[in-house]
Amino acid sequence: MDVKFQDVSLAYDNSHNILNKISFTIPEGQLTCLLGPSGCGKSTTLNLISGLLAPTAGQIFFGDQDVTKKDALARKVGMVFQNYALYPHMTVLDNICFPMKMAKVKKADRIKRGRELAALVHVETELTKKPSELSGGQQQRVAIARALAKSPSILLLDEPLSNLDARLRVEMREEIKRIQKETGVTTVFVTHDQEEAIHIADQIMVLNDGKIQQFTTPNRLYDQPENLFVAKFIGSPIINTLPFADVRDDFKNVLPAGILTSGYTLAMRAESIVPASDPHEHLTLMPLMATQVQSNRFGRETSLTLNYGDHEIVADGFREQDLGHNGRPMRFAIRPQGIFVFDQTGKRIWPATIETNISPLKPTEVIHA
Ligand SMILES: Nc1ncnc2c1ncn2[C@@H]1O[C@H](COP(=O)(O)OP(=O)(O)OP(=O)(O)O)[C@@H](O)[C@H]1O
Ligand SMILES: [Mg+2]
Repeated sequence: MDVKFQDVSLAYDNSHNILNKISFTIPEGQLTCLLGPSGCGKSTTLNLISGLLAPTAGQIFFGDQDVTKKDALARKVGMVFQNYALYPHMTVLDNICFPMKMAKVKKADRIKRGRELAALVHVETELTKKPSELSGGQQQRVAIARALAKSPSILLLDEPLSNLDARLRVEMREEIKRIQKETGVTTVFVTHDQEEAIHIADQIMVLNDGKIQQFTTPNRLYDQPENLFVAKFIGSPIINTLPFADVRDDFKNVLPAGILTSGYTLAMRAESIVPASDPHEHLTLMPLMATQVQSNRFGRETSLTLNYGDHEIVADGFREQDLGHNGRPMRFAIRPQGIFVFDQTGKRIWPATIETNISPLKPTEVIHA
């Protein structure tokens, strides 16, 4: 079942809207992430979907049905929170079966279904244990199985992995993705971690300032940020940003006149800055002269801090043999992918449409610095 918000606003008090007339459709059978900084209204949005909160204005639909006035019970959603909230005195199997017991499902049927769900989330060998005898990851699996036990119309997960250590988080996000694909249940997953969202989601809704900043697939979010907020929020290391006025002259041969006049911020992904000896040099937009300030190796990756004009920028993805010497100016090249220009309001103005507007220099036109 898809979930539709139509001009939904929410204010906890009468003073200001936490969510300001937001409209979106969460597609059926997919995993959608709500992503944004702390306090932007992710849990609020989730609670509006679940029916734990009622909107101040606007309408909410499940499929064709207007559920705005329906409570959480009637909406039949399954919820999993950050802290597992299992019943401590019940076994794993009883925890999973509890929603079916409440729904008066026959004992034999609910135990059969409970075992199936335990197998789905891979806790079938822990059925007689109490929650306190499980690891954090196992507890969260049980919580997911319990949420699925009422055959929910929608599964809502609010930062379900934030209590887990880094390795377990990565493992569990793959598990949630698998469980979602196996069950096909429409799922909304809240996180403030952009990397987690990118790995798990079919599509991501970025929230900030009470508004949807962008709602699209993870790759489009990365490749085609509509505004400066999204460009800076998605990707690690954080995208380099420079006042456009300081670099305008360097870009005057490659950007259209209109962009040169209205550009306010230039943003460059770290991997868009490549060695001048890049084998795909003919695909590069332009050369760039910069001074290497520092190089750092982080296991597989090497990142460089460069001085470009008066600004420090970060480049990464370099091989050991491409590194220069600190303090010496060097020639780099810029690839067109991952270079964006934003206007004063933060809206992306270049490339206008990513697919058609990039015209890298042809091999014969490459400028040699
Ligand atoms: N019950 C409440 N009463 C008043 N204000 C609230 C209430 N719950 C949340 N808020 C405010 O609404 C805003 C959004 O809160 P919300 O919990 O939705 O944020 P969030 O995006 O989930 O953040 P986090 O990542 O920290 O969980 C915050 O400014 C918060 O202080
Ligand atoms: Mg929250």
